[in-house]
Amino acid sequence: MRKPIVAGNWKMNKTRAEAAALVAGIKAEVGSINAVETVVCVPFTDLDLVAQAVKGSILGLGAQNVHWAEKGAFTGEISAAMLKELGVTYVIIGHSERRQYFGETDATVNQRAKAALVAGLKPIVCVGETLMEREAGQTTQVVERQARVGLAGLQGADWDKLVIAYEPVWAIGTGKTATTAQAQEVHAFIRKLLGELAGTETAAKIRIQYGGSMKPENAKELMSQPDIDGGLIGGASLEAGSFAAIVRGAVR
Ligand code: PGA
Repeated sequence: MRKPIVAGNWKMNKTRAEAAALVAGIKAEVGSINAVETVVCVPFTDLDLVAQAVKGSILGLGAQNVHWAEKGAFTGEISAAMLKELGVTYVIIGHSERRQYFGETDATVNQRAKAALVAGLKPIVCVGETLMEREAGQTTQVVERQARVGLAGLQGADWDKLVIAYEPVWAIGTGKTATTAQAQEVHAFIRKLLGELAGTETAAKIRIQYGGSMKPENAKELMSQPDIDGGLIGGASLEAGSFAAIVRGAVR
């Protein structure tokens, strides 16, 4: 059985003082829930502080982006080795905000995912269609392209480290959530595709998170679907109480 994974994506929120308070709150609320893997994906500037705070606990630490090169002239970027050194385990790759505002493409998602894996980080690779694409009936086509290109070249043990986040772009930060049926349908499609890419036995072990306006009120139902293995949470992860309620809702 797949262990659900609930990850908070803090995005560009929380100064160090705020981060310290939030992670302490999360630890107090869900630090003993072993049935769910709980991860916080924090801004680069909070990583060392949160790493210290989660040390020795069951909470995992994630970053929100990583560069594909080992080092060099890439002003403003951070390498996988730099993240690893700070105690980071997970890294979000190809979030729709990176694609929309920072020119991220399926090809760069692939480069970043491969670099993360080489350094021993676990990638959370995001896929998802825009409203226009959904209305044009292109959802599966878009998700398939993002996954095929984004995951090209992964092999063997790489697949065991991979997490996929299905985040319909029209549901992110908008308050609009995909219905459980809509979400499950795409998750099942992704798992079938992963079966083609990695083999069905391996695909059955890969966690696929849902993301997009997930909150305590809708999380449990979404995560009760057969192919929805947790969530990637933005807004509702910025407060310990609502994030913890979602983590509790993931217990199967
Ligand atoms: P949201 O963000 O929960 O605020 O919709 C999710 C995400 O972008 O990962």
